[in-house]
Amino acid sequence: MSKNSGVNRIEGGATGIKPAGQQADDDGKNDLMNTKITITGGKPLQGKITVSSAKNAVLPILIGSLLAEGQSTIIDVPRLADVDTTCSLLQHLGCTVWWENRNIVVQTGNPVTPEAPDEFVRRMRASFLIIGPLVARYGRARIALPGGCAIGSRPVNLHLKGLEALGASVRLDHGTVDVWCDRLRGARVYLDFPSVGATEQLMMAATLASGQTIIENVAEEPEIVDLANYLNSMGARIKGAGTPVIKVEGTDSLRGATYAPIPDRIEAGSYMAAAAVCGGDLTMDNVIADHLKPVIAKLKETGAEVTELENSIRVQATGRLKAVDVKTLPYPGFPTDMQAQMMALLAVTQGTGVVTETVFENRFMHVEELKRMGARIKVESRTAIIEGVPKLAGAPVKATDLRAGAALIIAALAAEQATEISCVHHIDRGYDNIVGKLQGVGAAISRSVAE
Ligand code: UD1
Repeated sequence: MSKNSGVNRIEGGATGIKPAGQQADDDGKNDLMNTKITITGGKPLQGKITVSSAKNAVLPILIGSLLAEGQSTIIDVPRLADVDTTCSLLQHLGCTVWWENRNIVVQTGNPVTPEAPDEFVRRMRASFLIIGPLVARYGRARIALPGGCAIGSRPVNLHLKGLEALGASVRLDHGTVDVWCDRLRGARVYLDFPSVGATEQLMMAATLASGQTIIENVAEEPEIVDLANYLNSMGARIKGAGTPVIKVEGTDSLRGATYAPIPDRIEAGSYMAAAAVCGGDLTMDNVIADHLKPVIAKLKETGAEVTELENSIRVQATGRLKAVDVKTLPYPGFPTDMQAQMMALLAVTQGTGVVTETVFENRFMHVEELKRMGARIKVESRTAIIEGVPKLAGAPVKATDLRAGAALIIAALAAEQATEISCVHHIDRGYDNIVGKLQGVGAAISRSVAE
């Protein structure tokens, strides 16, 4: 495939999702609305799963490539719909983007269109991160504001306040935001909440600002550290990523770099929860156990045996596990992105577990679907009380968002009879070959397109 043909998805391994802006094939074959995942539960999981690179590191890293002159290569990128969307977005902005085996190459330097149609933000909220790099390098960005989504209203006030503090002008007009500036200037910014996206946005913007930027109360997620490492390998001067205060010494230009992102802690955690639910003996390869501390601690508390090995984690479980309480928090607390999967596990543990969601205001969409499978869950505001049942029952259910979809797969692996999951395009956003990976360790799972 030639590099000029745009974003080339890998033959046979692609998600089937068209880049943003294109419709599904007329013959309906690739129409993801008709795609279903069918699972017959009750089989223990046995063997090894290799975890892919972290979606939430890869997306900002790809977008961060906008800051550099020349060519950047991102190593071993997972095949995800969100990656397709990001590549289409970069192309739309004027970059040349292509796959080289499992790597993605981004080349800047063509004329830039510093604005993106709203379909990108609608499809993937992380598209909003283009503002910082575009304003820092080209002086202007225009993109739709992300609206409400399945997991709450998710405002962007911290992104915009921070950019204003760096000297940018911001204008909101009919749901679109315009941001512009001659050159950003370093400043001190305090985030009211340690937002992952706002931290990434401002860290990227500050790399090309004049002088020093100090961002306080930032997110400390491993994906922030990864983005900082990538930007530093392009010549940026960022210190403190992974702590509550990040300091950036602005520089005049950055150069392209080659970078391998960290493994996906949420993908690993999802398979760990699946192993706990199904019983068996499953090893997740290519993991950084340190990034999974709260998940490991909670799984151990349920009675699962979790062993940390070099670059891998082994989960062994037999019989019914014990209920635990979970409270989501910014890193290093229990990740909100593992909340739904943990709830699927608690649906079948012995006793009553309480899940408190403190990061997002409305992230319990999976509850109604789990209840269709026989789960006993009561939601009161940001708390869910889960009374474990001995067995879930297969049912037709719908993935309402990415992690809700993963939770349904986990619940289905534990259920009697078959479960049919629809709206799997949500799952394709963040899990590379989830069906193949689970088939490889003994799950009865398949993917089909309805005629
Ligand atoms: C990122 C992750 C997402 C994860 C989330 C929290 C990516 C691509 N996505 O999303 O998977 O669930 O972190 O770990 O990395 N907030 C504001 N104002 C803002 C920004 C955020 O009030 O300007 C609030 C949000 O509404 C939410 C909380 O902060 O309640 C956390 O959001 P944030 O950390 O920004 O999440 P994302 O970066 O969108």
